[in-house]
This record gives sequence, structure tokens and C-alpha cells, in this order.
Amino acid sequence: MSNYHIKHLEEYYQVYRKSVREPENFWEEVAEEHFLWRKKWDAVLEWDFSKPEVTWFKNAKLNITENCIDRHLATRAHKTAILFEPNNPDEEAQHITYKELSERVNQFANVLKEQGVKKGDRVCIYVPMIPELAISVLACARIGAIHSVVFAGFSSTALATRINDADCKMVITADGSYRGAKTIDLKGIVDEALNKCPCIETVLVAKRINSKINMKQGRDQWLQPLLDKASTICDATTMDAEDPLFILYTSGSTGMPKGMVHTTAGYMIYTAYTFKNAFQYKENDVYWCTADIGWITGHSYIVYGPLLNGATTVLFEGVPSYPDFGRFWQIVEKHNINQFYTAPTAIRALAKHGTELVDKYDLSSLKVLGSVGEPINEEAWHWYNDNVGKKKSPIIDTWWQTETGGMMITPIPYVTPTKPTYATLPFIGIQPCLMDENGQELKGNQVEGRLCIKYPWPSMARTIWGNHQRYKETYFSAFQNKYFTGDGALRDEVGYYRITGRVDDVIIVSGHNLGTAPIEDAINEHPAVAESAIVGFPHDIKGSALYGYVILKDAGESRNHDNLRKEINQAISEKIGPIAKLDKIQFSNGLPKTRSGKIMRRILRKIAANEMDNLGDVSTLLNPEIVQSIIDNKL
Ligand code: WT7
Repeated sequence: MSNYHIKHLEEYYQVYRKSVREPENFWEEVAEEHFLWRKKWDAVLEWDFSKPEVTWFKNAKLNITENCIDRHLATRAHKTAILFEPNNPDEEAQHITYKELSERVNQFANVLKEQGVKKGDRVCIYVPMIPELAISVLACARIGAIHSVVFAGFSSTALATRINDADCKMVITADGSYRGAKTIDLKGIVDEALNKCPCIETVLVAKRINSKINMKQGRDQWLQPLLDKASTICDATTMDAEDPLFILYTSGSTGMPKGMVHTTAGYMIYTAYTFKNAFQYKENDVYWCTADIGWITGHSYIVYGPLLNGATTVLFEGVPSYPDFGRFWQIVEKHNINQFYTAPTAIRALAKHGTELVDKYDLSSLKVLGSVGEPINEEAWHWYNDNVGKKKSPIIDTWWQTETGGMMITPIPYVTPTKPTYATLPFIGIQPCLMDENGQELKGNQVEGRLCIKYPWPSMARTIWGNHQRYKETYFSAFQNKYFTGDGALRDEVGYYRITGRVDDVIIVSGHNLGTAPIEDAINEHPAVAESAIVGFPHDIKGSALYGYVILKDAGESRNHDNLRKEINQAISEKIGPIAKLDKIQFSNGLPKTRSGKIMRRILRKIAANEMDNLGDVSTLLNPEIVQSIIDNKL
């Protein structure tokens, strides 16, 4: 077990060096020691970033759910696997043991089979944060169906786009969901989406809020009666190491969201190994990640990583503000949470409400605090460290992406000395580098550039569903033979990394990755709009918020601008989801453009951020005069 659980800094460097010098031996040892295989591999790694093609554990056979569930039954049958904390604090929490999880996943898998789902089929999961979400994910994996979870806060249009892109044959959903004091009509959203999705044959509906919904004959079925009839035994389907496990969509800087494809064995090994080390998880710890399973954080660190380690993982249905801003801390006290993993945006929102609601609860069970999704600013870092961790629980600022499958740069708690706003050191096996704009690697310390990864790691996404060319162009074309992350970063004098933010047209709002292009498309569909450009600007809670510059077709448009603003945000909500709404909308007569017609977002960003005296040379623009007019009308 020596390399599975790192305990001090010297050991980190030692294991890291080995993982970089002999990556194949290193990952083979991890794979040999800790997992159930039906057949071992013929080769640990084959790769070629120019194609790009990456194969880990070639020809190995396994099923990830045997590793998440069956493997633990001998020793952990009665241990809680999933601890469900409902939206309403008065509703009782549910402790789902490994044995119960096994039975429920098998029943669900049998239902999927009965409904005609086969290995390789795509199943869309649009379910709120209730146990059925995790169980349906695992049920798909049990029979080799490829799950495509769509965050249950997305709109019907966003849902339909994702269903059609992956050509899903089934949707799993719920009648509705609870979100704080509100309920959401999920089934209604699904019905609307399915008007545009001819590929869907079956809809399975979990009952959560007991609302009246439409059930379409021949298509829609209540889940529970089917489960009740199903056997609790279901053999796991044998999967190849490189068979797709799931598709998960992430925004791109242009057009369609990208369906990132993750495969089975490499993803399993890396999420298990990172979970164990980055959280220093010990048997009987209670671990809580506040993300939604609809994002990669939830896939890797609510479902797969924790269950692969036989851990107890909390699944929280609600929001941090309900019934009040003390809810997170109330849950920490109630369930004696040991590892707590959340996003900077949540920390900032809670910090705004002072320390009274934190001090009210006993947080002494906490041992490790995690942060993910965006750079954590110094103020939020200290608030988290002082008030939640009481300066005794290390903060792990974990940098990674949907595409990377698992954490890439992170401190190991109690091992790596932390430094506010720094994700610190590469995780074991990860070889980051910084590149300058001419494609040269920046060697040594105290440099800043574009963050790339030089060598494959087991949980990297293998392709974009249905569009390998786009995968190659997006990630492997900017720098030869390297994976380009889209982020900028600096390396300090001791080799610690600090992520400085996106260098492309992706904006991170409250930890959600939003591409500017789909939002601009949604705005441009409004009949009064000619053109638009979106940029991010600093926001004290969301990290970044969206600022839209909109050009109307009729500049003399006499309509009430506030109504127009509402309509634009309404259109964005419908096309993408409320998370993509603009904080500010400025109507303008033009946009600064280069001579080749490209919008100069850099200038728009500076204006939105009130950095007007620092615009640089604008004289080479096609229309330099527009800049002053935009400044004069700034909101
Ligand atoms: C982008 C990926 C990884 C799960 C959640 C987001 C930003 C993520 C950090 C961090 C600075 C971070 C990056 C990255 N990001 N974590 N600790 N420090 N930036 O996944 O939606 O795929 O977004 O989030 O810009 O590229 P995602």
C-alpha cells in the first residue's frame, strides 16, 4: 500500500518523481494493488498526442460498479455508502448502506435492461440531487450503457441539444425537484425538450415532489413500480478498459457544448487514487462534496471516487441558503463531516452573511477543506481558513477540469504546505508546463504562461462525442504534442502553481463554465438585436459576472430598454439556463473590431471592469471612435 496513501512531503516528491520517470510502472502498481479486474491489460499505456489517441490498460476487462460496490460487500456491507440529506432539514436523512446500494443499483440496472437499454446505448439522466441520481448513474455503468447526466437546472433547449447530440434513447427524470423554498417542474421541462428529440423512446420518472404531471402513453413510466418488480441481482457487464463510461457536456468557446467522453479503467484508477490522497480519506470518515452530480465534480468526487474507496459520501439535495445561510454548517455538525469540498462562489456568498451562522455550529469534526471550480481569492481563502477550518484544517485548492476527469494540481493536506490562492503542486503523475505565446516552454520558476500538460494521465477525456476533429483542434493544436487547458497560470519561486484564469472565451460564473458564443447566439435571436458581445467582469460573490454589449437593429429603437433587458435575459434563461443571465446589459452603437472583423473582447473586458485608463492602443481598430462612445455609456 506504500504508494496509495501519501503521508509526508518527502514521500510526495519521491512518489511524484517515480510517477514521472516511470509512469507506466507507477500506474500499473496502483492498478494491480487495488482494483478488481476480469482480465489484466496487455499494455499500460499507448499514446500519440498528434492524433490524438490515448489508451490506458489496453484490452483489460472490468466493470467499474464491481469496484464501487461489490468489492466492498465482504467488509463494508452495513457501512453507509450514500448519506442523503434532503432539502428540507425536517425530513429525515437516509443512510444507504453498501448492501442496499448494491440491491438498488442492480434493480435499476435490470429495469434498464427490460426497457431495452443495451451496452453502448446513451441514457440521459436529468434528475435532481436525490439518491436515484447516483443510483441511475451506477445502474448505467453496471450494464455498460453510457450515461449523459445533464444538470437539472438546465433549460429544455439545453437539455434537448444534449439529448440529440448524444442520440440518447432514454431519459431518466423526476416529477419535480425541491430547491430551497421553491419547487421546479422537471417533468414539464423534459416534455418540452422531447418535442425536439425523436431519438427518445422511453422516459422513466422518479417521484419526488408528488406533483401532477403528464405521462405520455407508451413513452413515460413511473420508476418505482418497475423497480419493485425487479430482481436485486444483476451481473455486471464486462467492459473494455477503453469503453466509454460517460459523456458530460462542457461549454466551449464556440457553438455547441462539447460532449467530453470518459472511458472506464483510467478514469476509475485516477478518481480513486486522487480521492484517497487529496482528501486523506480514512475508513469511517464522512465526506461531503456540495457540488451537483450534474457536473464533473459530482461524477468524480460524489459518486465514483468516494465509492471506489468504500467511503461514506453525502448527497445534499438543497442549497446553502435554505432555510438560512447556516445550512452547510448545520449539516457539518449533524453528520460529523470530516472532509468538506465546495466552490469559492459558495464561500463568498456565505462570508457575506458574517460569522454568526458559522460560529453557531460545532465544526470540530472537519479535517480537510476543499475548493474547486475557479480561482479562490485571498479574502475567501482566509474566511474559509479562519472561520470554517479554525486554522487547523488545511485548504486544498484543487485545479482541474471536466476534460481532466480528476484533480490535476492540488495540495495534499497535511503534506503540502498551503499558500493562499495557489493550487500548489502537480498531483502524482501529472506533468504540467507553461508555454509562451510563441509555443516555447517556459522553464524554471517565476514564470507565467499558458498551462499545458505534457504527458497523458489515466482520466483524461479521450474525445468529444461525435467530433474527434474538434477535440484535436481545441486541446491539441495550440501547442504541439501538448494538451492545452485553456487556462493561464504562473509558477512561483518554489514551483507552486497559481491559476490566473481562462485565456479563451470561456467565463466562469459562480463556478459554472460558460461559453460566450452560445449566450451571444441566444441574444442575437431576439428580433430587436443585431449583434452582441459578452465579457466577464469581477463580481464579489460570483467571481465573474456577465456584461453584455448589445447592438440593436434599430438604433433609435423607442422601446423601453428595461423591458428589452428583461426579454434578453428571459431568452438566455430559456436557451441556456438562469445561470447564464447577464448582470449588465449596455446598448451600444457598435463593437470595437479588428480590421479582419474580430470583436476585440480585450477592450470590452477592460471597460466592463472599469479599467478604462489601461486600454492600450486602440488606433489600429476598424472603428476606434466606438470605444469612447461605449465608455461614455458604461453602466
Ligand atoms: C475550469 C474548468 C473541475 C471541476 C469544476 C470545474 C477553472 C477549476 C479551479 C481552481 C482556478 C479553477 C479553470 C478550469 N477552475 N478549478 N482550483 N483554481 N481555476 O470544471 O466546468 O470543466 O471548468 O474551471 O478555469 O479550466 P469545468
